[in-house]
Amino acid sequence: MRILLLTHTFNSLCQRFFVELAGRGHEVSVELDINDRVSEEAVRLFDPELIVAPYLKRAIPERVWRDRVCLVVHPGIVGDRGPSALDWAILDGEEEWGVTLLQANAEMDAGDVWASRRFTMRSATKSSLYRNEVTEAAVDALIEAVGKQAGGGFRPAPLSSLPARGRPRPPMRQVDRRIDWARDSTEMVLRKIRASDGSPGVIDNVLGEEMYLFDAEEERELRGRPGEIIAANEVGGGIGGGICRATDDGAVWISQIRMKAAGDELPLKLPAAMLLRERLNGIPEARGSRLHEIRYEERDGIGYLHFPFYNGAMSTTHCVKLRSAFLQASAGGARVLVLMGGPDFWSNGIDLNVIEAAGSAAEESWRNIEAMNDLARAIITATGLVTISALQGNAGAGGVFLALAADRVYARSGVVLNPHYKAMGNLYGSEYWTYLLPRRVGEAMAMELTELRLPIGAAAAKTMGLIDDHFGRDVPEFRRRVEEIATGLAHDPDLDRTLREKAMRRQADELRKPLEAYRVDEMKHMRLNFFGLDPSYHVARYNFVHRVPHSRTPFHLAKHRLPGWGRRS
Ligand code: COA
Repeated sequence: MRILLLTHTFNSLCQRFFVELAGRGHEVSVELDINDRVSEEAVRLFDPELIVAPYLKRAIPERVWRDRVCLVVHPGIVGDRGPSALDWAILDGEEEWGVTLLQANAEMDAGDVWASRRFTMRSATKSSLYRNEVTEAAVDALIEAVGKQAGGGFRPAPLSSLPARGRPRPPMRQVDRRIDWARDSTEMVLRKIRASDGSPGVIDNVLGEEMYLFDAEEERELRGRPGEIIAANEVGGGIGGGICRATDDGAVWISQIRMKAAGDELPLKLPAAMLLRERLNGIPEARGSRLHEIRYEERDGIGYLHFPFYNGAMSTTHCVKLRSAFLQASAGGARVLVLMGGPDFWSNGIDLNVIEAAGSAAEESWRNIEAMNDLARAIITATGLVTISALQGNAGAGGVFLALAADRVYARSGVVLNPHYKAMGNLYGSEYWTYLLPRRVGEAMAMELTELRLPIGAAAAKTMGLIDDHFGRDVPEFRRRVEEIATGLAHDPDLDRTLREKAMRRQADELRKPLEAYRVDEMKHMRLNFFGLDPSYHVARYNFVHRVPHSRTPFHLAKHRLPGWGRRS
């Protein structure tokens, strides 16, 4: 079937739809919702049999929904309506929530129902629920709805005919999210910040200035006067980088902050202690939030290295610390070491926000990529133990290539990979990708992946050899299976031979072309990207971190806009 994905941005849910539908043999194209005329043009050019809207911020043009079946994903249970569905579900402490696929009509979220799913809520941020429970439920519902459309003759149920528990809700405003430090319990503060995570954050007065708070976690020991900042962590700009604020019955760590916009530009979201550095004099330093800490555990001769960095972004400091943790872990007793990343992301490469905030973005980009390379090199050259990359969550750009530095790569089945850099202003990329990618998928496929700039689902990644296997419908199931595999390896009587072979292969590869030579070649290109005359990378990074809206759909997504499309179809 020809299916058009009409979406505000090509976000993780849209990418997952793209790979699921393409993987089932559908012809899929993407149009970013820029204005009515452009959307109508996309429909004319692509002539879709079905339009799916995974993530829209405004209504589908009437001319489009009157002419074609348009299915809108609503991240709420049947009957729920409004643009803040998940926000309300978290704030209201719903125990069960859902996703509904509605047919677009004149009234927002009130169309006939094609499919719906329910899931149990988790104590987590809006973004985490969206990337996990909502995404899995939406994919299930989408596959059901596409089957119905393909079968023909399906008549969706009018919303009014269904026993709905949901109801129309207004957009959540900042007054709904606002924290009353004197009254709100820790639980309520956490709910408010989690309901606002990703975007828009909770406006709050911090040290006399209004700013947006993100990324909160409970502090179990420190206490103080409600609202007071009672501790800070890594004020020098470390990993936690948060501030701790007392609540009515406890305290919370707040790790990310965005200043209020003064003009049109959306300010950067940055580690709280880094942003407030000068104003935190006299505030005691404490250990900080555990949410994004590097954590190492060893069980049954197997090491598990967790690095759940916020949004999977890895600053220079993150890379340096993770490399030390890796070297320390690999020098210990474990003979199998699993690189766990975090539950939501494995890695998204260098930290573009921290780079943007640096005095010289070019210099910081260089430092960051060098630190990434040092980390990748440490993993590639660790011949004394078997390394496994366990992708519980998505990975993008340098994060994917870092994963390939390990001997084995496993991903949760729902994971989406973006094994390319080019979308970030023609960035060439490093992390030894010119060594790591062709050795897994061959030269031709390596070229195709980097040029096409498309997301890859776990199943396709396995077929092309990018990863070794995928399994697990959710994170706990994936982790259990990874542990089984790691245990099997650690107790394998042939482990010594496996390690001897690994060392010999590394030696042979080094003789063929030294690792350093790959790095030098890649960094020559990166020097041009960072310091050369072409500013594309700096412009793309600026647009990405400041969320500058797209003005057109990139051609690699909108195949209906490629020259020759009409003649081909
Ligand atoms: N540095 C800083 N922040 C990053 C990041 C990075 N490398 N990659 C992702 N993020 C942030 C986003 O800004 C967003 O922040 P939010 O919390 O304010 O919403 C969040 O992570 C989620 O990213 P988003 O783009 O919404 O996720 P997605 O799943 O829809 O898309 C990617 C995934 C990987 C395609 C996309 O995030 C991306 O292109 N990232 C940049 C990768 C890159 O070029 N890295 C540098 C080269 S190594």
